[in-house]
Amino acid sequence: MNGAKKIVLGVTGGVAAYKAPELARLLKKGGLDVQVVMTRAAERFVAPLALRCVTGNAVLTADWDAQTDPYDHLFVTRGASAALIAPATANFLAKMAHGAADDLLTTTILAARCPVYVAPSMNPAMLNNPAVRENIRILEKRGINVVPPEVGEMADGEFGEGRLPSIEYLASLMMKAAGVAGDLAGRRVLVTAGPTVEPIDAARFISNRSSGKMGAALAGAARDRGADVTLIHGPVTARLPEGVRRVSVRTAVEMLDAVTSRFSDCDMLIMAAAVADFRPARPSAGKIKKGDQSPTLALEPNPDILEAVAKIKGGRVVVGFAAETENLIKNGRDKMAAKNMDVICVNDVGGEDSGFDSDYNEVTILCRGEEPLPLRRADKPSVANRILDVAVKFLSAPVA
Ligand code: C5P
Repeated sequence: MNGAKKIVLGVTGGVAAYKAPELARLLKKGGLDVQVVMTRAAERFVAPLALRCVTGNAVLTADWDAQTDPYDHLFVTRGASAALIAPATANFLAKMAHGAADDLLTTTILAARCPVYVAPSMNPAMLNNPAVRENIRILEKRGINVVPPEVGEMADGEFGEGRLPSIEYLASLMMKAAGVAGDLAGRRVLVTAGPTVEPIDAARFISNRSSGKMGAALAGAARDRGADVTLIHGPVTARLPEGVRRVSVRTAVEMLDAVTSRFSDCDMLIMAAAVADFRPARPSAGKIKKGDQSPTLALEPNPDILEAVAKIKGGRVVVGFAAETENLIKNGRDKMAAKNMDVICVNDVGGEDSGFDSDYNEVTILCRGEEPLPLRRADKPSVANRILDVAVKFLSAPVA
């Protein structure tokens, strides 16, 4: 492939190997030159010919002939932007952690000078075995990029941690590693973040607990994936990403104006802001004096920004959030329908160190026409990328 960046895709013998041809196809579609190396066990799950067909390159298998190509193990990763082992079995992780070199893939990875990514995928009991956890820690300490497995239903029907992350996500990681334009290249993305503040008087306001970290992470992730990002934010404590256009607002009404005036020009709106539902009905221009009687604060509802844009949505993708304490899926689906969203991320705000002000989040992604996607608790940038993986599927084809 002329001038294309090269990626080495190592496939080992876990059930998720059946996803390898689709992953290789996505990488190829993303403009990458994909060189597959398979272990003997992987061949029991997927035929080398399938990978040969989608990549257009000869697949290196355990039957590699050292007489013909004695240095293949050194040459495979030469000039590669990155190597990804997906799925990576417990056996492969163990060999890699301890420097074993008993087949073409292990020797290839041992000889690699490019960044190496591994995507462990196995039954939850195996993943939680201390030996496997220890091997993963060893690899992480050595600078190997371990892509955390997801929580979900396993091939054997068991539910737990160990699923291979979405192939779209794995492909986007490789595109990024190779410096190739991401899946949001040429797209305009509007993100809202943080709280709004609603004045009571000249000195006081009501607001809510929102740091803006989730919105900031979404803006950063969209930027990394090639989008032109505008971040409309209330007063946040979060560090805001560089390389995105920032629009600072205070009240819900200001945020409504900032969003609606830009909405028609965007491809995607992500409403991560914790907009105050109510505002003081009669804010005082001066500071209310301390008197004998406690003042009563009359509140009135703020406009709902998502409801306002729902009417002019057109083909734009709209992603919202819902903080819930019970009936997460039902309430999330109802809210998604009521506000005409494509994707909604439901937060369980009942738990500790998840959601508000935390660096971590635990959300379930709901979208039109698909089963709920529960994500395990992860740092907000990782959660942001998972949300974008789902949201990009709703984008219509770019205008040529
Ligand atoms: O109905 P609820 O407030 O739970 O919906 C949350 C979603 O709606 C979030 O995406 C939030 O940003 C958005 N929202 C809005 N305008 C409001 C309140 C919330 O767009 N006034």
